[in-house]
This record gives sequence, C-alpha cells and structure tokens, in this order.
Amino acid sequence: GPANIADGEKVIHPSASTVTVQDRERAKGHKGSVFWLTGLSGSGKSTLARAAETRLFADGVDVTVLDGDTLRAGLCKDLGFSEADRTENVRRAAEVARLLRDAGQVVIVALISPLRSDRDLARQIIGDGFEEVFVDADLGTCEQRDPKGLYAAARAGKISGFTGIDAPYEAPAKPALHLITGKDSVEAATKTLVTFVEDAVRHK
Ligand code: PPS
Repeated sequence: GPANIADGEKVIHPSASTVTVQDRERAKGHKGSVFWLTGLSGSGKSTLARAAETRLFADGVDVTVLDGDTLRAGLCKDLGFSEADRTENVRRAAEVARLLRDAGQVVIVALISPLRSDRDLARQIIGDGFEEVFVDADLGTCEQRDPKGLYAAARAGKISGFTGIDAPYEAPAKPALHLITGKDSVEAATKTLVTFVEDAVRHK
C-alpha cells in the first residue's frame, strides 16, 4: 500500500498489452524488427533508408525510418554532437525504435552512431530483432561527396568535433550486413538491403 512508498520515490507500473506479438505478426504478415544503419556522414544512410522504405512499403511492409536529422529536428532538438549528447541521441532513437518494433513495425534507423559502446547500448535496449547494418564508404569518398558542405566546414575549422575529421568513427566489427556504398551503386545497395530485410522479417 501507500505506506511502502518512500517520500519522493519514483513509482512506475507499466501496463501489459493483451495484444500479443503473434497477433500483430499475423495481422501484418511480418515480424517487427530494427535495422540499424551506421556510417559516416555522407556514406548514404538516409538515401538507402528512404529507397528501401519505398520498396518495402510497396511490398506491404509496415516500415518507418528514424533518421538522425529528423530526430534532431524534434525529439532530440536539445542535443548537440558532444560524446554525451550523441550517446543520448542513440539511446532515444533506440527507445523509439523499440516501441515501434513492439508495435510490429519494421524500423530502419539511420544514425552515424559512431561509437561501438553506443550501438551496443542500442542493441541492449532493442534486444530481439536488432540488426546492425554498416553503410561503408571511406572518408575520402564521403568528403568528396560532401552533400551538405560539412566536411569543408570542418576542415576549415568552422565545425569542431566532426565525425571522421576530429571526432571518432568506430566501424562495426561484425555487422549483420555490410554495404559498401563507396563502390556499389545506390540501386545495388538498396536491393541488397531490401532482400536482407524481407528475409529477416518474413520468416523465422
Ligand atoms: S550521431 O553521431 O549518431 O548522434 O549523429 P546523427 O544524429 O546521425 O546526426 C548526423 C548529422 O548531423 C550533421 N552534423 C554532424 N555530424 C557529425 N559530426 C558533427 N559534428 C556534426 N554536426 C552536424 C550531419 O549533417 C549529419 O548528417 P548525415 O546524414 O550523417 O550526413
């Protein structure tokens, strides 16, 4: 009873759903899962995520993209690019991805998520159905593309702590899928990602 609750103690009672995971899978025709795209700025994460989303949706998959720039415009507005803020950014994205996965969706997360420890945290939060996808283009390629002019700004010292220039990027050691976007076409990489997702969510 209330007598057992200490002053100022935080008490939460998460409610349980009567809709089961199996109910949701049957209704949607696929499992909920999270495909976590990590890679340098300009490696093609967002492009791939959006192209895959279009295809998967057309194939009847209930799919959502959680993109770094989108999250940072809203949910993560208060966060910058310090190590602590990136960790918090990854944590929030992972928690949202988990909720959507639990609702039966296929979630494609596109975040630089440069640190292994942060991605491990995401894996821990999400648990079942977390698949790490390495969107791999070398720094030279990303810098040459420089779609937002950020590498140039970082080289000019206008931005500090830019991933790959003066902030670390730790490549995944054993990603579930490795897309070499510095070499393969967007079309080829998208096809590979879509096939990988369909295989992972359509059967066990
Ligand atoms: S992180 O590290 O996972 O929290 O980053 P993310 O949320 O994916 O945001 C990356 C986008 O932010 C822009 N940007 C920077 N990136 C890296 N380092 C610094 N200092 C920085 N400042 C701004 C950049 O446009 C990234 O976009 P993408 O789509 O990755 O190119």
